[in-house]
Amino acid sequence: MKHRRVLRAAVTVAVTGALAAGMTMALTTSANAGTTLRASAAEKGRYFGAAVATGKLSTGAYTTILNREFNSVVAENEMKWDATEPQQGRFSYTGGDRLVSHAQANGMSVRGHALLWYQQEPGWAQNMSGSALRSAMINHVTQVATHFRGKIYAWDVVNEAFADGNSGGRRDSNLQRTGNDWIEAAFRAARVADPGAKLCYNDYNTDGINAKSTGIYNMVRDFKSRGVPIDCVGFQSHLGTSLAGDYQANLQRFADLGVDVQITELDVMTGGNQANIYGAVTRACMNVSRCTGITTWGVRDCDSWRGSDNALLFDCNGNKKAAYTSVLNALNAGPAIPTDPPTDPPTDPPTDPPTDPPTDPPTVGCAASVSLNSWNGGFVATVKVTAGSAGTSGWNVGFTLPSGASVTNTWSATASGSTGAVRFANVNYNGRLGAGQVTEFGFQGTGSASGVTPTCTAS
Ligand code: XIL
Repeated sequence: MKHRRVLRAAVTVAVTGALAAGMTMALTTSANAGTTLRASAAEKGRYFGAAVATGKLSTGAYTTILNREFNSVVAENEMKWDATEPQQGRFSYTGGDRLVSHAQANGMSVRGHALLWYQQEPGWAQNMSGSALRSAMINHVTQVATHFRGKIYAWDVVNEAFADGNSGGRRDSNLQRTGNDWIEAAFRAARVADPGAKLCYNDYNTDGINAKSTGIYNMVRDFKSRGVPIDCVGFQSHLGTSLAGDYQANLQRFADLGVDVQITELDVMTGGNQANIYGAVTRACMNVSRCTGITTWGVRDCDSWRGSDNALLFDCNGNKKAAYTSVLNALNAGPAIPTDPPTDPPTDPPTDPPTDPPTDPPTVGCAASVSLNSWNGGFVATVKVTAGSAGTSGWNVGFTLPSGASVTNTWSATASGSTGAVRFANVNYNGRLGAGQVTEFGFQGTGSASGVTPTCTAS
């Protein structure tokens, strides 16, 4: 404790010095050259981010560097399952909201980390299994992604689901034991809850072409071929004293599948190679046009979870390290993301416009269709409502659920009834539809809803 206080005093003094030096540099360098990580990354169409422990946002020495150098943040712990849903069904967003406000006030985007992870599960979830856990986990994804809807650039929907070593397969966990489709169920639920966020799969020990990264590669390829909504893959990149020679080639093979790639938790062990490795990682990202940004897992060495590794870009006094210069130079030297064609064709089957030419008589009233994502013991239903030729000022969709099925959660509609004949009415913002216009709502349930068909009435 005592040691800490002394350290903090030293930090304040040293950072004042570094700030003054930074300002001199800005004045003497040409206006085009980036002199901060955030400006240099932005100039190349990318972000440069840091993991933030929100408790540190009130420490001036920390926040000064954060705001000057970074234009993206991710919560080091505050958006994880144990933090956001400490008791089942009781959600806590204090830390996450605080980070989002800080980001919004300082021109930063936010990466969401992580909706589902086998670690930092709250105790109640650790004790669950099977369909109860499956429902709880989908509910968690839905609630948290809905809470932050519109505020998150990219979500790590699932973190660290693959095993280390040579198997190339999934890691055992209570989540995995709910069925191999748990990852796709999570991505579908996240898409419904926040259609604007990029949805990422995130993992470590994937820093080159190896059995684990190939297992993930095969999953992403499969998801893309079946229309499972995935937009990006995060490479944590917690690195030692060397970098795989095929680091960039590995990023590129994922990008070639049609997903963005991001370096999400970069830190590098100290040693002769630290600055070189940081530079090489940055260059690799710059050379892959779908690599949209880099995040370091912390700001200063002493903020790092890696203890004495001194793994970050700023020393404990807030001074820029050689690794910082190496990253900045690589950002400045790298190519910009080509602005056209747009990098991001939509990945899931487009929900609108309607695919068939309107040769049949136009629908008066409304039509509804449902797509089900089911597992043993539960389901998520995504319902598409299409207005007929007169448009709608409100709509109501009915289902008759098979016995044993029950609605547990609804979004973008108001449910009446939970078993048997259930109805869903529009909420205030999606009732009014123009002719042919489409809106979506969803609900989650236990049991099986297979074979259900919706009927739609318009007002
Ligand atoms: C770490 C945090 O930095 C620590 O504060 C916490 O005690 C444990 O988790 N991979 C991840 C991150 O995806 O969430 C982890 O963060 C580091 C490894």
